[in-house]
Amino acid sequence: MPSFNTLGAIYALLGLLGLIDYARVMGQQNPPQTCPAVLDISPCVCTVKKNGLDILCEATDLQHINKAMDVLKGKSPIIFYLKLRHNNLPKLQGFLFLALDIRHLTIHNSSLAAIEETALSSLGKGLTQLDVSQNQLSNVPSMALKNLHHLLILNLNHNKISQIHNKAFEGLDTLEILTLYENKISTIEPEAFRGLDKKLKRLNLGGNELTSVPQKSLSILDTLKKLEIQENKIRSIKEGDFEGLKTLDSLILAHNYLTKVPANVFRHLTQLNSLELEGNSITYIDKDAFLGLEENLQYLRLGDNNIHMIPSDALRGLHRLRHLDLRANNISMISEDAFSGFGDSITFLNLQKNDLKTLPAMGFENLNSLETLNLQNNKFTKIAEEVMEPIMDTLRVVDITDNPLICSCDLVWFPNLLQDLKNRDDEMTQKKRPMCTMINEHREYFVQNMPLERMNCIGKNLGRSAYSSATSQHIQNSIQICIAPIISHSVWKLFLTFVVRGA
Ligand SMILES: *[C@@H]1O[C@H](CO)[C@@H](O)[C@H](O)[C@H]1NC(C)=O
Ligand SMILES: *[C@@H]1O[C@H](CO)[C@@H](O)[C@H](O)[C@H]1NC(C)=O
Repeated sequence: MPSFNTLGAIYALLGLLGLIDYARVMGQQNPPQTCPAVLDISPCVCTVKKNGLDILCEATDLQHINKAMDVLKGKSPIIFYLKLRHNNLPKLQGFLFLALDIRHLTIHNSSLAAIEETALSSLGKGLTQLDVSQNQLSNVPSMALKNLHHLLILNLNHNKISQIHNKAFEGLDTLEILTLYENKISTIEPEAFRGLDKKLKRLNLGGNELTSVPQKSLSILDTLKKLEIQENKIRSIKEGDFEGLKTLDSLILAHNYLTKVPANVFRHLTQLNSLELEGNSITYIDKDAFLGLEENLQYLRLGDNNIHMIPSDALRGLHRLRHLDLRANNISMISEDAFSGFGDSITFLNLQKNDLKTLPAMGFENLNSLETLNLQNNKFTKIAEEVMEPIMDTLRVVDITDNPLICSCDLVWFPNLLQDLKNRDDEMTQKKRPMCTMINEHREYFVQNMPLERMNCIGKNLGRSAYSSATSQHIQNSIQICIAPIISHSVWKLFLTFVVRGA
């Protein structure tokens, strides 16, 4: 039988290449895949897919699944997907799938607590994906896995695994993706990932109970591209923690308990493109924190921490940085040279939900590539034209909503920018419209509808070509006073109250 399947695979490949009329050859050599009679495998259901059968068994038990497998064994089809979900299958018994050719196997939310050593071993030649998520496994079922020599993806998410013992994945030398999200892992032994050192590209350890980076076990993963250790209980990271991860492209340390980013901690990650540190309690970033990341880091996420100033000294060497996210921190001021030395490459800057009241006149001078700027939810009463001037030509999206802005000629840059973008067919994608308070009128306006004719802004030389056309449009627009309906409604209610009381 195996040689027959191999032959089929070769014909399929040649067929794909257009060298052989696959259907004709298979028509002669192998009847097309067909499903068993509906009643024979019920409550499982079968559909024919291009690459084989797709079989789904839900809300049933071992006895029914066993029966369905026996029926399938008689026909020896290629089972491209076997999906067993929401069943009662506490134990996967030996030889259950013997003589079946299964490529993708899912046993999900089925109370699975044990997998007998011989339950999966017969699938070694064909199985490429195994998903045993949302079950009751308390250990990596190493003995059952060790013969799966073609496995590419292993999903153990949402189980009860509390430790990963040495050589837990030995034998899985083709594995590229391993995910252990939301288990109870607190211990990872030093040789835990031995055997995965040739091919593993992605490892997800998120949602566990780790209190430190499992450095020894990770250090052999030469080929790893993406490491996720978010949502653990890591209190500190130190130099050497990421040694050995030579090809790492993306590191996610978000939602841990970090308070500091010490010097040299990422020094070995010279290929790193994206670093996520949001949702910690970081107050201190050493000036040498990002040393080693100069050549490749483009995405840095530091949102939801407790940072008090732009960590300029640490960022200065990052001359490839494009995306800097500092949202929801405690930044109350920005210095003139905050972006000097590294601002050139930044296209995205998020300062939303901080404590900013003013911006220094030359603060954004170095941000020559800035396209998206988020200043939403700060304490700005004004954002001066001179601050925005250096970035007006590149800016495509700006959010200044949820600030206590005062309507003034200083803000004219905003309607001008909208007009500019409109002229460039490059309209701001966001629908949010910032508001400002017109002090002497005790009312609010949308910034783009400020009554410029009453503000003595007209004629003020702001040096923008779009200004005059924008102005005439705003004189028309400003007649629609946005807050008026709300005010008149409350005035009306007040009036009614008086009338009723009076009567
Ligand atoms: C898991 O399966 C049980 C039946 O065994 C079902 O009642 C429950 O809704 C399923 N849970 C999820 C999250 O699908
Ligand atoms: C923000 O910083 C100020 C002092 O600069 C401090 O009083 C305040 O507690 C900080 N807020 C948070 C959430 O840490």
